Amino acid sequence: MAIRRSSEQGNPPQQPPKERKPRNELLQSNPTTEETNSNEDSLRPQRLADYIGQKDLKAVLAIAIEAAKQRGEAMDHLLLYGPPGLGKTTMSLILATEMGVNCKITAAPALERPRDITGLLVNLNPGDVLFVDEIHRLNRITEELLYPAMEDGRLDITVGKGQSAKTRSIPLPPFTLVGATTRVGSLTAPLRDRFGMIQRLQFYELDELTEIVLRTAQVLETEIVREGAIEIATRSRGTPRIANRLLKRVRDYAQVKNLGVIGAEVAAEALELFQVDQMGLDWTDRLLLNTMIDQFHGGPVGLDAIGAATGEDRITIEDVYEPYLLQIGFLQRTPRGRMVTDKAMKHLGY
Ligand SMILES: Nc1ncnc2c1ncn2[C@@H]1O[C@H](COP(=O)(O)OP(=O)(O)O)[C@@H](O)[C@H]1O
Ligand SMILES: [Mg+2]
Repeated sequence: MAIRRSSEQGNPPQQPPKERKPRNELLQSNPTTEETNSNEDSLRPQRLADYIGQKDLKAVLAIAIEAAKQRGEAMDHLLLYGPPGLGKTTMSLILATEMGVNCKITAAPALERPRDITGLLVNLNPGDVLFVDEIHRLNRITEELLYPAMEDGRLDITVGKGQSAKTRSIPLPPFTLVGATTRVGSLTAPLRDRFGMIQRLQFYELDELTEIVLRTAQVLETEIVREGAIEIATRSRGTPRIANRLLKRVRDYAQVKNLGVIGAEVAAEALELFQVDQMGLDWTDRLLLNTMIDQFHGGPVGLDAIGAATGEDRITIEDVYEPYLLQIGFLQRTPRGRMVTDKAMKHLGY
């Protein structure tokens, strides 16, 4: 069981939660079980050149890869942060491919006992990438084992107990730790400081998401025209994982109804049917915005107050809902709290 930091617990709602509608599963940025069980893997680009968007990130990593290869060393440790579904895992796999090494994938909640992390570390080949997802959830012991491993390439383990306990150092092969997190603020300073590169992933622009939809359609051997891809991209919350998922549902629709090539109309029709809003908003986004408008005159209002009034956990609002609403200009952050914009009011029909 990973230790939960106190900052993760959020505030309990002060009012009983309102009646909840089921979330639109299609618009969740976290992977579904089906996607986790590797059906996503076939859609991942394999090389840096095929990774669409994230221009700045790609430029930085291209240099880091080249430099490390020229020196014949492992690449510096890398921390990737940003909302789910933007391509952190994919980028880690690409790095390994570009470096010509293996990538071992794990997640902090799976590193419960000290031997979980030590087992992984001692079995790395020189230069390998170790990918640790949700790295802000590491427990203290595991995290402290990582410090000397990252910094000096050694593992300090304690043998024996009490008075006769001794620390033994085991040298490790050089490796690259790639950490991924949606909450960079929850990382401890000593861990954060041990990453040579800290990079943020951005939401994707419409044209980038359109390219991703077209690329995925090719992999899935689905016929689609650009207008159809744009229709899907518009509703994908700036997130490739959602874009790919919506494309699959539209593909099902077109196939069953025998509609042939996916154009804008077919895509729109299918997405209406699945109740995907034209901006990709789901029921909770709308609840948050409507509550801010109806109960707080559109703001400014603090996250805790929004959380209490909607029964949503503050952390969830901050991590899952707010980033996208900020991105599309539906919310504004001010020193006194969040404000709903005119653009959002218009979309909601006020
Ligand atoms: N830049 C990109 N270009 C093409 N496809 C992408 C890109 N980023 C992500 N994807 C696709 O989106 C899905 C989710 O990406 P993933 O790396 O698992 O996200 P994260 O680890 O950040 O949650 C994958 O199927 C991947 O193929
Ligand atoms: Mg991931």
